[in-house]
Amino acid sequence: MSKILITGGAGFIGSNLVDYFLEKNHTIVCLDNLSTGFEHNIKQHFNNPNFTFIKSDIRDLEACKNAVAGCDYVLHEAALGSVPRSIEDPATTNEVNIGGFLNMIIAARDAKVKRFVYAASSSTYGDSKKLPKVENEIGKPLSPYAITKYVDELYADVFSKTYGMQCIGLRYFNVFGRRQTPDGAYAAVIPLWVKELINHRSPKINGDGSYSRDFTFIENVIQANELALFATEKQISQGQKVYSKLIGKEDLYTPNSTFFSEVFNVAFGGNTNLIQLFEALRDNLARFDNKIKKIEAVFGPFRAGDIPHSQASIKKAEIILKYKPKFDAREGFEKVAEWYYENLK
Ligand SMILES: NC(=O)c1ccc[n+]([C@@H]2O[C@H](COP(=O)([O-])OP(=O)(O)OC[C@H]3O[C@@H](n4cnc5c(N)ncnc54)[C@H](O)[C@@H]3O)[C@@H](O)[C@H]2O)c1
Repeated sequence: MSKILITGGAGFIGSNLVDYFLEKNHTIVCLDNLSTGFEHNIKQHFNNPNFTFIKSDIRDLEACKNAVAGCDYVLHEAALGSVPRSIEDPATTNEVNIGGFLNMIIAARDAKVKRFVYAASSSTYGDSKKLPKVENEIGKPLSPYAITKYVDELYADVFSKTYGMQCIGLRYFNVFGRRQTPDGAYAAVIPLWVKELINHRSPKINGDGSYSRDFTFIENVIQANELALFATEKQISQGQKVYSKLIGKEDLYTPNSTFFSEVFNVAFGGNTNLIQLFEALRDNLARFDNKIKKIEAVFGPFRAGDIPHSQASIKKAEIILKYKPKFDAREGFEKVAEWYYENLK
């Protein structure tokens, strides 16, 4: 069993990872400053001897070093995760997402962890119109948030080459599931709409509803993190060889597998437009409250900066990590609907 530091472990994705890896009998250290995460997401583990919570900030290098001491692996999830927030306050997003990332990867390097796995983002595709999104073809960032997530990838790449680290970035695509909060100015669309529906209000769709996303159920994200942590060097090296040949980029393949830096799309590989999303949420919630069935969405103007479509190719993760997402978006909504209904009222 391993000792894993999960930064941002009190947040939506991080706390789901904490639950999963504790259940698998690993020892977990959670570092979180509770700025957008919540103690109630992790307090069920406070009496578990395999769990330690450190309330601290990744902008503090010493705190990162203390947290990672004795850990085998890092899952770095802590960040300020909203595009609109980064537009309003780019400096703080930069401090946390780049400065904090740099602290954490320095601390991980010094602690000689076996692997540094971090939350990257589909926002790195920026203004690229190409669909589906393939890891080695990105556009220009469209927000300060997207810049920070791309800079993290660059740092991981340089740290791997310069200090011989194993780094894996997981570019999450619109993740949803339990514990995603509907509150605050920067809430993601799914919990926001769910809260509206449960309260018999009409969710507002920005634009005509045709924009689409590759909505990714949290269980698929957990699977990708586990594979990224524990895929053997041999498996990664062999997979890199096959994948680089497949995309005609054999020059990207370096047979030295003791250190590497890779990024992978983590998604289902599907696309759901906003009208389909609205209908799926409404129909699933109507199982618990009949009145929800009659609610219609209202439409507003398109939001500046929103890209029309985002869909991932998951070939690279399939080939190298053996990633096989179990739930498409519809199955994910079905699975999480009851939790939404009970918790987002
Ligand atoms: N949710 C998505 O769809 C999505 C998509 C792409 C990438 N990501 C990335 O995944 C990661 C997790 O996102 P999430 O959706 O769970 O968000 P979240 O806000 O629920 O979780 C982030 C956690 O990091 C903590 N944190 C923030 N600043 C910190 C700091 N300075 N020091 C210590 N802890 C700090 C927060 O308190 C919170 O618990 C982030 O890196 C985010 O950028 C998320």
